[in-house]
Amino acid sequence: MTSLLPTGKQINLQLGWPSPSLFPSEDLNAAASSVFSSFDVASSALVYGPSRGYVPLRSQMAKFLGSMYHGNPEAIEESRVCIAGGASQNLSNTLLRFADPSYTRRIWMVEPTYFLACPVFEDCGFIGKMRGVPEDDEGIDLGFLERALAETEAEYAGKCEEGRLKTPANGYEKIYKHIIYVVPTFSNPSGKTMSLEHRYSLVRLAIKYDALVISDDVYDFLSWPHEQENYIEGGKLEISPTLVDINRELDPESKWGNTMSNGSFSKIIAPGARVSWAMGTPAFVSFLATTGASISGGNPGHLSSTFVENMLSSGALQTHIEKKLIPTYSSRYYAMVKAIEEYLEPLGVKVITGQPYHSHYRTSDGGGSAAKIQAAGGFFLSISLPSTYQDVPGLAKAALEKEELKIAYGKMFEVKGDAGSKERSKTSFGNSIRLCWSFHEEEAIKEGIMRLRSVLLSYDKI
Ligand SMILES: Cc1ncc(COP(=O)(O)O)c(C=O)c1O
Repeated sequence: MTSLLPTGKQINLQLGWPSPSLFPSEDLNAAASSVFSSFDVASSALVYGPSRGYVPLRSQMAKFLGSMYHGNPEAIEESRVCIAGGASQNLSNTLLRFADPSYTRRIWMVEPTYFLACPVFEDCGFIGKMRGVPEDDEGIDLGFLERALAETEAEYAGKCEEGRLKTPANGYEKIYKHIIYVVPTFSNPSGKTMSLEHRYSLVRLAIKYDALVISDDVYDFLSWPHEQENYIEGGKLEISPTLVDINRELDPESKWGNTMSNGSFSKIIAPGARVSWAMGTPAFVSFLATTGASISGGNPGHLSSTFVENMLSSGALQTHIEKKLIPTYSSRYYAMVKAIEEYLEPLGVKVITGQPYHSHYRTSDGGGSAAKIQAAGGFFLSISLPSTYQDVPGLAKAALEKEELKIAYGKMFEVKGDAGSKERSKTSFGNSIRLCWSFHEEEAIKEGIMRLRSVLLSYDKI
């Protein structure tokens, strides 16, 4: 891979990477030293790892997820968690284990979509079978999705099993008819968060249509108040329930479930760590983790898993999130929003918010407001341009050439191979720009927004 790091004076508001100054190198160094200074631990770190993941990490992971999502380390059983080598890889594994292009009808992707998921689906045999579902203010247009699911089922009536390759006789007990791909919390690219009502309705639809919802939950633990004056050091926002929790509540006896939570340490430790987790029913995560490659090569994130386990059991990761990441990302977010208000809103630009996401905000001693406040978080926000700006890809090109500013434009987030998505982008998300605050510091973010203003002001000269 060629380096995507900004060079010279370039400001890259496209790059969804944590800045290197935020990597917990000292904690990782301490973790690695501790692993390698014990013969027994080092030995278990350097053999093939169990396909479901390093056992001590699995149990730390369950405690961590229980604490983060439920405020109770015992709330999630270890049997519901497996470890993987990144959310991207696990997306691929999920398709390999639970979908079959000769049987699974469609991949439904919320649009604008996380565009790098498209090639993963294509690799798994779904070229031409991906379809966009518009995002609405509450996260996903459920009416559109239900109509599309029903129409597709009518199309397939009577030819369900024709040509199916992954059958129970071949070891694939559960293949879903549909896959639905969403990023419900602080979505990439829009920044929107799915409402609780839509989460419940989406899971009900998935159950009704034998669909698996793959929920990329990689930004869930990075949240703070939208209003800077509400920010309290050490404050924590309650996190929305995962679709997996909702699925468990609605259909507790289901063996496979209809949802999987795809989480990752890429955004809260470092992308190079290549460790992630999946949450689902015990049957689901066991089968997911036993792809042919993992049976042969062991868990793909094994050595790094031992470092991550050390960071979790020592509490270093929890401290890193609370004391470093949230304070840094929130102040970059506030700097970006302030700069947009000052330099872009006078030109008619709007921040896309959807229905604001509200949540309880508390300090560890129980302080904070009893009322819910508006939350922000993740890595991205999207802005919409007034309709006078027709050629947004051209604008992004000019930003790079004239201002050394890199931005991601709406068209990039179309669902690949779906003519409907391409068409809809012309009248909806095509006029948007995604901006990221994770890589640059406040001054560079402000400078980047000022450069964007210059590009917008010289638009008619492009
Ligand atoms: C929604 C979403 N899913 C997955 C990923 C990639 O995750 P990982 O680094 O764990 O493969 C990203 C990274 O930008 C993302 O935004």
